Amino acid sequence: MFGYTSSAQVSSDHNSRSEKKIDSILKLMTLEEKIGQMTMYNGSWDLTGPPGTVSAKDKFEKLKNGKIGAMLNVTSAEATREAQKAVMKHTRLKIPLVFGYDVIHGYKTIFPIPLGESASWDLELMEKTASIAAKEASAAGIHWTFAPMVDVSRDARWGRVMEGAGEDPYFNSVVGVARIKGFQGDDLSSAHTIAACAKHFAGYGFAEAGKDYNSVDVGVYELHNSILPPFKAAAEANVATFMNAFNEIDGIPATAHKYLQREVLKDGWNWEGVMVSDWGSIGEMIAHGYARDKTHAGELAIKAGSDMDMESSAYEIGLKSLIEENKVSMALVDDAVKRVLRLKMKLGLFEDPYKYANPDREKAEIYSESHQEIARDAARKSIVLLKNDTLQTDKSPLLPLKPDQKIAVLGDLADDKDTPLGNWRARAERKSAISLLEGIKNAVDPENITFARGPQFVIDNLEEGKRQFLWPLKFNKNDTTGTAEALEVAKNSDVVIITMGENAYQTGEGRSQVDIQINKVQKEFLKKIRKVNPNTVLVLMNGRPLNLSWESENIPAILETWHLGSQAGNAIADVLLGKYNPSGKLPVSFPRSVGQEPLFYNQKNTGRPYSRNTVTFSGYTDSEKSALYPFGFGLSYTSFKYDNLKLSDTTMTKNGKIVASVEVTNTGKKDGEEVVQLYIRDLIGSLTRPVRELKGFKKILLKTGETKTVSFEITKNQLEFYTANKIWDVEPGNFRIGIGNDSRTKLGAKFQVLE
Ligand code: BGC
Repeated sequence: MFGYTSSAQVSSDHNSRSEKKIDSILKLMTLEEKIGQMTMYNGSWDLTGPPGTVSAKDKFEKLKNGKIGAMLNVTSAEATREAQKAVMKHTRLKIPLVFGYDVIHGYKTIFPIPLGESASWDLELMEKTASIAAKEASAAGIHWTFAPMVDVSRDARWGRVMEGAGEDPYFNSVVGVARIKGFQGDDLSSAHTIAACAKHFAGYGFAEAGKDYNSVDVGVYELHNSILPPFKAAAEANVATFMNAFNEIDGIPATAHKYLQREVLKDGWNWEGVMVSDWGSIGEMIAHGYARDKTHAGELAIKAGSDMDMESSAYEIGLKSLIEENKVSMALVDDAVKRVLRLKMKLGLFEDPYKYANPDREKAEIYSESHQEIARDAARKSIVLLKNDTLQTDKSPLLPLKPDQKIAVLGDLADDKDTPLGNWRARAERKSAISLLEGIKNAVDPENITFARGPQFVIDNLEEGKRQFLWPLKFNKNDTTGTAEALEVAKNSDVVIITMGENAYQTGEGRSQVDIQINKVQKEFLKKIRKVNPNTVLVLMNGRPLNLSWESENIPAILETWHLGSQAGNAIADVLLGKYNPSGKLPVSFPRSVGQEPLFYNQKNTGRPYSRNTVTFSGYTDSEKSALYPFGFGLSYTSFKYDNLKLSDTTMTKNGKIVASVEVTNTGKKDGEEVVQLYIRDLIGSLTRPVRELKGFKKILLKTGETKTVSFEITKNQLEFYTANKIWDVEPGNFRIGIGNDSRTKLGAKFQVLE
């Protein structure tokens, strides 16, 4: 009417123009060219899975012949340009390649591992670090990251717990969406943003016994209520791609799971992106005992909705004959190809296939000073203070450290410049992190610091150039060399900072463990040090929840620092010295024993939740059943009081709303941030419901003495679940809420949802 078009109109015109263009390209394509678009090869520059058999030379030939539509692990402006050039120069249709890479927690500037960063409970921060990772990766020609992993992971034995946001479905959803927004920004065609990938669809985090790649056996209700919510949130946030998973679910490999990929994701959620297989997961269906050969595997995968084959060559080998023999319809292939072309179109690659690979930007933007500052901020916000006792000798807590104390810095990880980078560190330079020792030396008079390593716990047994990602670590089991010197240093210091935990490559893919305690040599060392100096602060560096039963009983102060990335040491020093008041909260339960795993706070009540002084209840006879450090837990250098929990009403309708509010006061002597957490329990359902579920949180800053009222809106979104009727719905009845500073919340109230 006024002669202008609304932005919705512009984008729908744009979409229909793109769709027309996609259709016209599709019409020009031969079957071989279509299959090429559905094929992804590793670039040989880097290996994140079992090496394939196709040589670099042969891959180059395939590129020139249009047999490859996507590559992974090609990582520099120069290398991506070279591969792109082969395609643009030699192929008939000049459809640009798309380059994918595992940019999981940074490209060269490394942020905390995802589990660690989740402990910040700071969504804006996570969005920001993902956007920086995208900026650095895109400068090097990367268009697409295989992140975020949104697998709910409840088992500390599973090595990949480090890669996600822990055990809670809601938390994984909001963290996943923040990361997707960070990677993709508002405009995928910008040269600073990259496509994200929600992975691994689905159930990978539920591997039996925490053993990587293992079978998963969950029912359809558990699937929808506990595993799928973060994926649904990702689809709603327009994540450009999904990756399927290595595991089977109840006998069906996820890669061939039609119900998941077609019925739920593509048809049910109307999602239009690309489903890429995991590395070799189509071919692995042969080992699963589900496919006879690669052709059969390809048939199962395409029918189920896998659009792109990463490193199996199954589509390349079998799709043509499957079409010719009418076993697979061309419509399925066309749909997959259109999804791939759509992704390339959205990334702007048809306009300029080289626009991402920019050597000038690569030099100027990657690892810049401003990125380091954000890495430091992200790292200190991810640290969780687990314990901080008051010593008898001096009535103050051990942390923060006091000025002019003589500090012993001990342990194999203290001067380790590599471990803080964690696993999945993309293009980080080996040994490029600020170590804890360097961080402390930067912060206090180096004269006050004495370092002694003590025994080594991992033997660096790798030949130069051999990728650590793929190879097992070798542990020191009995060599105690270095202990005597460290004991002397500890004796002569006011306070001991001792580092323990896991090597960078102790968690991550293929790094499942049955023992989740600190390794024996380290632990014996810790015991000896504790004896000679009770003022011992344990600084943990690890990628999974550990069993800290002994440590929590015997060590007065414990700081969980995960693998914090490029700026680890400076960030830890900020917290140790009180320049930053710790605010992190655990995104996973820390157990008392590995025997409790899988351990998660949002369990079911069972029919026998309590002990009436007999053994016949749901628990253990040799351990308490609760976590040692529960989900949501983390201390501060100040203290907070929760009071006056109020509900705006005690009844609501299904589509109505109640507001819950609580007063939080900083009762300590330092300003500090607090994560106020809302939990809800649906008391009776058509299916049994968890004892409590996180449904909201707010991170607030409170000055000493200050009180703030924090409120949460409770609507359908927080109350619905996948019911016995197989729909998402709110069931009328009684609900209980709890608000507090961890999943044990003491303040509670009840309300009712009316018929
Ligand atoms: C992992 C994926 C990863 C892929 C490509 C696989 O082994 O499971 O998460 O994105 O390799 O590196």
